[in-house]
Amino acid sequence: MIELRGIGKTYQMGSTELVALADVDLTIARNEYVALIGPSGSGKSTMMNVLGCLDLPTRGTYTFDGSEVASLDEDELARVRNRKIGFIFQSYYLMPRISIADNVAQPLIYRGIAPAVRRQRAVDALARVGLEARTLHKPNELSGGQRQRVAIARALVGRPDVLLADEPTGNLDSKTAREIMGVFGDLHRDGMTIIIVTHDTAIANYCRRVVRLHDGRIVEDRVQ
Ligand SMILES: Nc1ncnc2c1ncn2[C@@H]1O[C@H](COP(=O)(O)OP(=O)(O)OP(=O)(O)O)[C@@H](O)[C@H]1O
Ligand SMILES: [Mg+2]
Repeated sequence: MIELRGIGKTYQMGSTELVALADVDLTIARNEYVALIGPSGSGKSTMMNVLGCLDLPTRGTYTFDGSEVASLDEDELARVRNRKIGFIFQSYYLMPRISIADNVAQPLIYRGIAPAVRRQRAVDALARVGLEARTLHKPNELSGGQRQRVAIARALVGRPDVLLADEPTGNLDSKTAREIMGVFGDLHRDGMTIIIVTHDTAIANYCRRVVRLHDGRIVEDRVQ
């Protein structure tokens, strides 16, 4: 599903080069549940941006679902991001003035899906995260954990092949964080491929496989 070979990412900072990723090899199969961990500055978000086709590596090859990402044009990249990948971030990025059902349905608008179908799929996605009773609420009427569930539903509504989450529990207390990890656990059991970036080893313990980065390199890769 995901194959990184010799991936490097450097940033040019004036006359110096900053190496964010160096010679990363990583293969992730369908239905894996992976934690990407490492200290601040180790390259986790850079890796996430590469995996999510939000940013191109400066060297190496990245193959996603059979296509070499560097060979795709902007339209094809946008299509991969919109259809094959569901993104979840630490901040939920919900639109405050519309219902959570409308928030969740939003990604389907650009696909030309009829409003009634969009609404049904949004309600189905909200049911998967346990929010079927709240579909007409606005985001500010929900707790942080519930808002993150909405963001997960929005990531799911397009039926992606993989969920990429960057510090999804970073704004939550530990009990709510456990609940959110329970949601990811359920999705994994249902067959979803999930990659979670975290600096929190307690969160990583919920995942099946742990990949540890240090100074832009993979220093550990284990199944637990
Ligand atoms: N746009 C950028 N321009 C220059 N340097 C960058 C850029 N983005 C990241 N870096 C550098 O790349 C390295 C890796 O950064 P990255 O954000 O991937 O780390 P991280 O593991 O996600 O850290 P954190 O846990 O703090 O989020 C850091 O040294 C960072 O300063
Ligand atoms: Mg980061």
